[in-house]
Amino acid sequence: MEYKLTDKEKSAREYVCLALDISDKEEIEKAVDELWDLVGCFKIHTAFTNHGPEIVKSVINKGGKVFLDLKFHDIPNTVANYAEAVTKLGVSYFNMHVSGGTEMMKAASKRVSEVSMGLNLVPPKMIGMTVLTSISKDVLNNEIGIEGEIEDKVLSWAKLAKESALDGIVCSAADLDKIKDKLPDDFFYITPGIRPVGVSHDDQVRVMTPSNAVKAGSSLLVIGRAIYKAEDRRKAAYEILQDIASVL
Ligand code: C5P
Repeated sequence: MEYKLTDKEKSAREYVCLALDISDKEEIEKAVDELWDLVGCFKIHTAFTNHGPEIVKSVINKGGKVFLDLKFHDIPNTVANYAEAVTKLGVSYFNMHVSGGTEMMKAASKRVSEVSMGLNLVPPKMIGMTVLTSISKDVLNNEIGIEGEIEDKVLSWAKLAKESALDGIVCSAADLDKIKDKLPDDFFYITPGIRPVGVSHDDQVRVMTPSNAVKAGSSLLVIGRAIYKAEDRRKAAYEILQDIASVL
């Protein structure tokens, strides 16, 4: 069905990033064709390992923005080389692990600026990964050997990302109230774990509705199964836009 978006729903669309957690290339392309006018961005990770840079180009050619979720972590020069490659590919967002250190993040940031200026491209936003939500305090402290509470580490790594010229972090919308006022206003927050009211939580433990996540200060909501597993994907995406628009 065709939906005529109001101005607020058009603004809401910019908050929605569809996680393309689909393995088949044709199915991915079908989802992009079906939904590009209702979602502002597409997150690609395993699709990249399955189909390579061509899948990123294909989504961009269809009019979608891409968040390339490859979570780089390596020596500074290597991550700068990755950053150059993804900037040339035309992605709008990509990420790296803050635990790779400030030198690594600064090297990536410097290369992104040089390449985008040289080629007259819009620089992608660089996003830091702090503590993965799959890591427990026990694993952080006793396996990885990092002391302290998870939320303190998330905040200190978010600050390190900011100091190293990254644009934002990935975190749970539920954590925003603890960290947002300690970081600059223009910092960018990408939040997964989003579920509209009445939709299955699947394996997500801490979830938030789209409108609550935006109210909490999310900049971009990563939403996967609530859209691509829906019986009517366009309707599911449109209802999410209506929900977000209600708080804009
Ligand atoms: O289907 P669902 O909306 O749960 O998908 C969420 C997406 O966000 C998946 O691609 C998942 O890998 C990603 N993600 C997450 N939790 C994190 C980081 C990323 O669910 N902490």
